[in-house]
Amino acid sequence: MNWWENEFLWVKKNKLYLEDLQAEQLAKKYGTPLYVYSRQKVLANLRRLRQAFEPAPPGLEIRIAYAMKANSHAGLLKALLKEGVFIDAVSPAEVEKAIKAGFHEGRILFTGTSLSQEDFERVLAHPGITVNIDAFEQIESLAAARRRRRIKSPVRVSVRWNPGLGRGFSSKTVTAGERSSDGTPIKFGVEDSRVIETFKRLQTLKFLPVGLHQHLGSGWTEEDFPVAVRAVDRMIKKAKELQAAGFNLECLDFGGGFGPKYLQEERLFPLEEYAAYILGKVENSRLGIRAIIVEPGKYLVAEAGILLVRVEYLKKNYGHLFACVNAGTYNTVPRPAIYKEAYHEIVNVSQVNGSKKDRITVAGHLCETADIFGVERMMPRPQPGKILAVLMAGAYCRSMASNFNLRDIPQEILLGSV
Ligand SMILES: Cc1ncc(COP(=O)(O)O)c(C=O)c1O
Repeated sequence: MNWWENEFLWVKKNKLYLEDLQAEQLAKKYGTPLYVYSRQKVLANLRRLRQAFEPAPPGLEIRIAYAMKANSHAGLLKALLKEGVFIDAVSPAEVEKAIKAGFHEGRILFTGTSLSQEDFERVLAHPGITVNIDAFEQIESLAAARRRRRIKSPVRVSVRWNPGLGRGFSSKTVTAGERSSDGTPIKFGVEDSRVIETFKRLQTLKFLPVGLHQHLGSGWTEEDFPVAVRAVDRMIKKAKELQAAGFNLECLDFGGGFGPKYLQEERLFPLEEYAAYILGKVENSRLGIRAIIVEPGKYLVAEAGILLVRVEYLKKNYGHLFACVNAGTYNTVPRPAIYKEAYHEIVNVSQVNGSKKDRITVAGHLCETADIFGVERMMPRPQPGKILAVLMAGAYCRSMASNFNLRDIPQEILLGSV
């Protein structure tokens, strides 16, 4: 069995199947490039996440707020809506899309950065949303937006603080701490020394402060666990300081970041232990917290999507063998072009395994050197016209895709709906 096989992706007679359909046949029917998503796989991931938090005591609600920036396909949003999931939105357009998909305002958390008053006005068209403040400096324009909207009922707010610790699979996905691992100053969150002042200002302006939020970064593996739990400790300590200052919080939001495996050698983030740690700390804290929030993106959807591409020809250049495909990374699976650490397994769908393998670099059709889906991968050599599947394409692929080179963004299909 291949390490990446699961209820969505599996192999029979050396051919790749997506749920009960042959990948080759889907490519023939719908054309390529093509994103294929599995609702079943997303729901299986959701079940696993819920199970991890199942030991929560009565009275402590676990809110799973899907980070829809990972993938905002309407069918996936609908499936998550039915399961009672909340939404983590980062732009007014994401808020509007969540509302359109049927999410109740009270189930949407808005966390934005570098926001204008107009952004807040769009968000407050739905005044039941919880606004997660990313900067002390956002407060006045939020208040001005509330005046423009003539909202009289209290607007629920939480504060995204920067606990001084961050972790991510790439320096570009570390979202807390003073600087990322490559030295980039981190723009997110309210620094430790200003958190209480931020809550006080919100209270003075008659907002309703309900929560404290942090998000350390994206793409954690097992080695990120020690930092993740240290950040939990910091969150509890901060919530206690807030309690002493008179703020009794309803919820603590630990953000997202816990990843699935992208690589065989990678060790999975120990989600169950992390959940148990959070639950233990919250229970013992006597903070009177009523809800814990987590904001998974990748965890729910990364494994539940793939991209099918067609090999146009094989090209030899200075000893390298390239499979040249009919898609470009930036238009489909941009992660390998953006992050040097990003890895997506690539599978020859009509001959998944084989005793004879070649060293193949899978190259896209864009005018850019970084337009490579995978470098020197060992796989059975695909003939021109054959289909390759780029795995783990459910998160931050379609949502980050552009029309670079004026190439189209591929169509998406959701299995079970086609
Ligand atoms: C505030 C916030 N929450 C949640 C997430 C989701 O992260 P991930 O997809 O790694 O779970 C992100 C993504 O960076 C984020 O910025």
